[in-house]
Amino acid sequence: MSAMLICASTHHGNTRKVADRIGGVLGAAVVTPAEVTAEQIDAADLIGFGSGVYWMYFDPALVELVRSLPVRQRGAAFVYATSGLPETPLRRYTRSLADLLGGRGFRVDPEVYHCRGWDTMGPFGLVGGMNRGRPSDADLAAAEDYARRLLARQG
Ligand SMILES: Cc1cc2nc3c(=O)[nH]c(=O)nc-3n(C[C@H](O)[C@H](O)[C@H](O)COP(=O)(O)O)c2cc1C
Repeated sequence: MSAMLICASTHHGNTRKVADRIGGVLGAAVVTPAEVTAEQIDAADLIGFGSGVYWMYFDPALVELVRSLPVRQRGAAFVYATSGLPETPLRRYTRSLADLLGGRGFRVDPEVYHCRGWDTMGPFGLVGGMNRGRPSDADLAAAEDYARRLLARQG
């Protein structure tokens, strides 16, 4: 199985830490939206799409990349993210990216990996930010467990 992760992590590299740990378990390279080619996307059996959450959504370059893909039958995909605030039923940004991927023809894994990330955006930045130290060792261990479950589901 060939796997890769596409990751946009522009604030503090929080999501990149998660992507690197998931990639370690999957044996998958981590690339940015600017680095990946359409051929690589077509060739992969399993692709992770993730970023920090910025203004309640994913990184615009990541979203644009997905939107630019022609609709056709594709391999498996999964979604991962870090954010300053927890996701709530009223703020389902991970669901909207999963829906977008499904619309492009991916079989989207039902489980999303999401954890909090250090956030110095806005007034909290003046006092060292929110969630300092996250993703934590426990968050990263949970990301590896998630990757093992993903692998098991790929059969
Ligand atoms: C411009 C900007 C906008 C943000 N908007 C949100 C937001 O709407 N909701 C949220 O929970 N966190 C928000 N955050 C916090 C980031 O999601 C959080 O710090 C994340 O872990 C950053 O990931 P990264 O280091 O991989 O970029 C925002 C951060 C920045 C810099």
